Amino acid sequence: MTAKVIDGKAYAEGLRVRIAKAVKELGAKHGLKPGLAVVLVGEDPASKVYVANKAKQTVEVGMNSWEHRLDAATSEKDLLALVDKLNNDPAVHGILVQLPLPKQIDSTKVLNTINPAKDVDGFHVVNAGKLATGQDSLVACTPVGSVMLAKDALGKLDGLEAVVIGRSNIVGKPVAQLLLQENCTVTIAHSKTKDLPGVVRRADLVIAAVGRPEMVKGDWIKPGACVIDVGINRIERDGKGKLVGDCDYASCSAVAGSITPVPGGVGPMTIACLLHNTVRAACAQKS
Ligand code: GUN
Repeated sequence: MTAKVIDGKAYAEGLRVRIAKAVKELGAKHGLKPGLAVVLVGEDPASKVYVANKAKQTVEVGMNSWEHRLDAATSEKDLLALVDKLNNDPAVHGILVQLPLPKQIDSTKVLNTINPAKDVDGFHVVNAGKLATGQDSLVACTPVGSVMLAKDALGKLDGLEAVVIGRSNIVGKPVAQLLLQENCTVTIAHSKTKDLPGVVRRADLVIAAVGRPEMVKGDWIKPGACVIDVGINRIERDGKGKLVGDCDYASCSAVAGSITPVPGGVGPMTIACLLHNTVRAACAQKS
């Protein structure tokens, strides 16, 4: 079998068109322009690229965008003061602090200082807790985008065996919660899981989010399964830099029913979902 390629780039483009329309309507009906503030501390090259893409796409859908670039040596106190200022700025509806943060800063403390109503990353403990207990909340963007693509490929997810590889707060745990809400039987596998290939082989739906280049091999995949690859890993091959996922694309796509490519799969969905969260946050703050 050769897997159907799930085109996240095209899906994200469609989402952005709908978001741009909603932004236009908010302006016309309510005089409201949603605004997203992104904070980058330090010079991490990958983070710089993400932040520039976020800013570009935010403006493209008609929203306000602010970028705050702070020195790598910024103190926790100064970063918390900036978050506080953004919390109190009525033009800012969404706040995103790019991770990872430098060592001197306690990321959990910073994330939990963001007003939960402006937490478009969905990382605040209040939003994570609401997701875990089935209450309406802002939900982390990569997990939402991953589940959208899985539903697009598979239709209803009811009753499917889903295996999530990775237990991070950013992807693994929230995506598992979303899959539970879709009535999947969910296993969260991780670095201490015994017989990981055997566990993954049970899955109708595999979500790989471990950050290990090409770790998941084709013979781990149940024939016909849907593979959503969240990994974005930069490797050197044949003397050239290359982006690869957590799944070995060549062998997995020979067995799976559908698969996301890297790049062009989950990646583009993350920013589209961030824009969507910003519109949601702005609507909730308007009254
Ligand atoms: N770093 C990598 N992915 C993300 C993300 O989705 N949100 C934030 N804030 N930082 C990230």
